[in-house]
Amino acid sequence: MTAIAETPACPGTPTVGDLAPVLPVVGHDTPAPLVDGRRVPYANLDVAASAPALQDVADRITQTLPLYASVHRGAGYLSQVSTTLYEQSRRVIGEFVGARDDDVTLLVRNTTDALNLLAGCVPASDDGTPGRVLVLDVEHHANFLPWQRSADATVVTGRDTVAETVAAIRDELAAGLAAGRGYALLAVTGASNVTGETLPVADVVATAHAAGARVLLDGAQLVPHRRFSLAETGVDYLAFSGHKTYAPFGAGVLVGRRDWLDTGTPYLAGGGAVRSVRVERTDWHDGPARHEAGSPNVLGAVALAAACESLAALDADALRAHENALRARLVDGLESIAGVEVVRLWSDAPDTVGVVTFTVAGYEPGQVAAYLSAEHGIGVRDGRFCAHPLLSRLGYGAGAVRSSVGVGTAGEEVERLVAAVAALVADGPQARYDVVDGLWIVVDDPRPVPEGSGLAGLLATAGPGGDEAFGCLPEDA
Ligand code: ALA
Repeated sequence: MTAIAETPACPGTPTVGDLAPVLPVVGHDTPAPLVDGRRVPYANLDVAASAPALQDVADRITQTLPLYASVHRGAGYLSQVSTTLYEQSRRVIGEFVGARDDDVTLLVRNTTDALNLLAGCVPASDDGTPGRVLVLDVEHHANFLPWQRSADATVVTGRDTVAETVAAIRDELAAGLAAGRGYALLAVTGASNVTGETLPVADVVATAHAAGARVLLDGAQLVPHRRFSLAETGVDYLAFSGHKTYAPFGAGVLVGRRDWLDTGTPYLAGGGAVRSVRVERTDWHDGPARHEAGSPNVLGAVALAAACESLAALDADALRAHENALRARLVDGLESIAGVEVVRLWSDAPDTVGVVTFTVAGYEPGQVAAYLSAEHGIGVRDGRFCAHPLLSRLGYGAGAVRSSVGVGTAGEEVERLVAAVAALVADGPQARYDVVDGLWIVVDDPRPVPEGSGLAGLLATAGPGGDEAFGCLPEDA
């Protein structure tokens, strides 16, 4: 094995090497083995995919485990405790995002689950056809496929600027009204999972409401990074995920207007969702129970509520300043390296969360990601980020590399990424790489599995490979 060269000084200015995380997260110091036999603290720059647990969240889960019992189903003392914890968590989570008095807060698995649920609740048009839904082509598949599959969906192509994009939405909403087929819902991203860029929520809401359409905001990438309020913005529905909000215990959320949710098709048919069942007829609940059949995920709910409390206790400006500094350094540092291009969607986005996607000339995104992991202990995501229509339109059909930061990110991790990309461009990779089943791997990868994990070896990140592969592989159609 060739020795790994020391990385050169980071290009670009100013550096953020001294910037500390805003909140402690579990696993921040986990050692990552490198192909040269060294170990370095893992730099998790993939929090937009799944964020590590806040230490507060892990502590709350440890406290709650001895109290764990059935929810909504038991007369025992711990069942009463667990039921109360579950319902209290629902309240905390709803309050964190400014739920209005009459909103319903549903606890589901993740954003994808939330949006599939809402897709079954959009009222039919007057002629009995599925309700019309307007979406942009910039969306993550979670906010695209449910509408494509079960609604009468129209896709507006994003424009070069936010202003033109909002105007295009306005025009299409007006065209729907003029044709006597108005839209029921506009489903838009709160922050792009590819670029981190946001839309002006107030303008979007005003535009939709003026045309009689409600607004669903995909908050998966927004809620963990910015204060958001349904009541203040007028957004009708919000979906977000615990696993991106520093609470990776399997809970996600849909919050919003009660009427559609109380009349929509119950999302899951099963115990807990019904008032009574007879052989010939079932009487379904309304409210959260209607859509939450099966034993509730009380630990997921408690974890997410704990994360909401910790984020709510932070100074919003400090949170934004931390992330802005990390993001600015990533953009400046990466753009100062020859052949590196940062992906942008709009030139006038009003805000941008901590996501920076880029390409490196001469290297496939999968190789860059494999190199960053194997030679620098840095975790990023590569591919098309479950946003195929957007990547294709922007000319990145072969994918890109995405780095992302959050409250647990230290400036030193960002500096390591910039230096590592600079070293790749200057000297090339030091290990040997190959493509197996469409995935970049290190040839004869010597890195061990974590001690005590019981694992025999590691899979490539996107799945078991071949026809069974899951996830969003670069070569997905
Ligand atoms: N939705 C997650 C992402 O954008 C998985 O990476």
